[in-house]
Amino acid sequence: MSSLAASDEHTVLTTAKVIQPAWVRTVHWINAVAMVLMIMSGWQIYNASPLFGFKFSSSITLGGWLGGALLWHFAAMWLLMVNGLVYLTLGFATGRFRKKLLPITPEGVISDARAALTGKLSHDDLTKYNHVQKLLYAGIIVVGVLIVLSGLAIWKPVQLQYLTALFGGYDVARYVHFFCMAAIVAFLVVHVALALLVPKSLRAMIIGR
Ligand code: HEM
Repeated sequence: MSSLAASDEHTVLTTAKVIQPAWVRTVHWINAVAMVLMIMSGWQIYNASPLFGFKFSSSITLGGWLGGALLWHFAAMWLLMVNGLVYLTLGFATGRFRKKLLPITPEGVISDARAALTGKLSHDDLTKYNHVQKLLYAGIIVVGVLIVLSGLAIWKPVQLQYLTALFGGYDVARYVHFFCMAAIVAFLVVHVALALLVPKSLRAMIIGR
């Protein structure tokens, strides 16, 4: 009897709905590692020629000095770019972006934000994102594309001069690159806090269900 119950339980567990497919989990965590490496080495590169009246503390930068930080930044860049291209290609090809991130309506965002702030937002069905999640995820994907393009524009301003010109020149591209970083850091703070507040969403992003 008990072995029957155990096998029933096994069936339930193995047929439980997959919330985050393996490919999403894989690219998500590779992206998280690559982003953190890019941000910390980027702060060290910034310190060599600050755009504003402050520098980042060396306790939170990577690379030790400009040369070391550039090596980290360009190494992690390949990881971020290749992984990002895989995510974008599969996101479009499988219809995931359409199914999970659309539609996003202003009314939906306002009512879901209100529900979230008053503690009334349901987290029962993790296979569906609410409108605030959709907006944040779609937004951060666009910022991810922009930070890579503006980075390419300031890395190769001669070879990629049309791209650099599209941003309004080298100096503007540098500011765009910086503000995209700031947006990603702000997203990350909120995103990680929310993931910890709803631990089953974190579990799903780790083991799939
Ligand atoms: C250690 C840091 C991170 C943690 C703990 C984390 C956690 C999570 C979790 C739990 C989910 C599923 C959330 C849900 O049900 O709403 C998720 C989804 C997502 N995260 Fe993160 N994340 C991290 C870093 C990042 C970074 C750096 C980015 C991008 C800059 C990012 C972008 C996304 C996106 C776009 C999704 C939706 C993916 C999809 O459904 O295709 N995350 N994250």
